[in-house]
Amino acid sequence: MAKVLCIDDEPLMRLVTCDYLKDMGHEVLEAASSAEGIALFQKHHPDIVLSDLRMPGGDGFLVVEHMAEEAPDTPVVIISGTGTVAEAVKILRLGAWDYLTKPLTSMPLFAQTLERMLDKARALKATTQHLRGLELRNQELERKLLGCACNHRGMKSRLAAAIKAGINSLHIALHEQDPSTAGHNEGVARLSVDIGSSMGLGEQRLEALKLAGLLHDIGKIAVPKDILNKRGPLSAKELKIVRSHVACGYRILRNIPFEGPVAEAVLQHHERFDGSGYPNGLASGGILLEARILAVADVYDALCSDRPYRPGLCPSDATGYILGRAGTHFCPLCVTAFEQVISKRHMEGETQ
Ligand SMILES: [Fe+2]
Repeated sequence: MAKVLCIDDEPLMRLVTCDYLKDMGHEVLEAASSAEGIALFQKHHPDIVLSDLRMPGGDGFLVVEHMAEEAPDTPVVIISGTGTVAEAVKILRLGAWDYLTKPLTSMPLFAQTLERMLDKARALKATTQHLRGLELRNQELERKLLGCACNHRGMKSRLAAAIKAGINSLHIALHEQDPSTAGHNEGVARLSVDIGSSMGLGEQRLEALKLAGLLHDIGKIAVPKDILNKRGPLSAKELKIVRSHVACGYRILRNIPFEGPVAEAVLQHHERFDGSGYPNGLASGGILLEARILAVADVYDALCSDRPYRPGLCPSDATGYILGRAGTHFCPLCVTAFEQVISKRHMEGETQ
């Protein structure tokens, strides 16, 4: 059974309606005006409101407006003997759930309307609760997802830090093996990034390029010092050992989860654009762009550096060497970008 609020300024009408409702087993609250009705609603929160349309001191519109604002889930049924069709339409649009005319000639029909409204209100309440439940569940899921994202970011950050530490260790190991390359790897990394940037590569590719530059000769850890620092020409066997540094570097790096083809670029950095390089004789577009950029940066930086067996070239001679081999040793696009970088550096006063 329901709690029904009946608002009507006519005592006889209230008596008839309320007695009938009580006979049906409902709990009934009575109000003789809209103000009294609203006050009772705020105090007792009935399940349904039955309201007259025209009453002194505030009409049914006031009741409907208040209910639409304060308790839209509670049904309001207007019962009027004087309202026009236009008023009926207006008050239904305002938020009344149904509109009945006085006198109530069929009480069973009145009872049916009441039950229908209460059923509708119960269904609406259940749907609202269900939606609220879904909303809470969504909020919970969002919180969990946010937590996962934070954990993921944390793990990613720890992984990046571990990779950085590992790279640093490899770097130190290579420096121990071949001190003559001190600064060379940083120089290759910096020039590679400048060339890649000039070619419009994105941030992630440039980061991979930087790592590949720092690590490109890491495989030289496995090459004996006396071969690395030999002043005279290398024998065929020694040359084979030196050349094995690219495959060795690849083996060292291939299982590190870099965000880019770092190990592959290291493997290919001695390939040549015309296919005459090593280890696989790849040519032109068959060589990773990162490796083609590394090749230019590596040779330029090496030419400019002093080595135990020769002094370094001046930047203009080293640049001339690179430009003269565009399309044979080096990728022409990379050489063009390299030339732009060198010109810019020259204008900015850098020597290498
Ligand atoms: Fe190399």
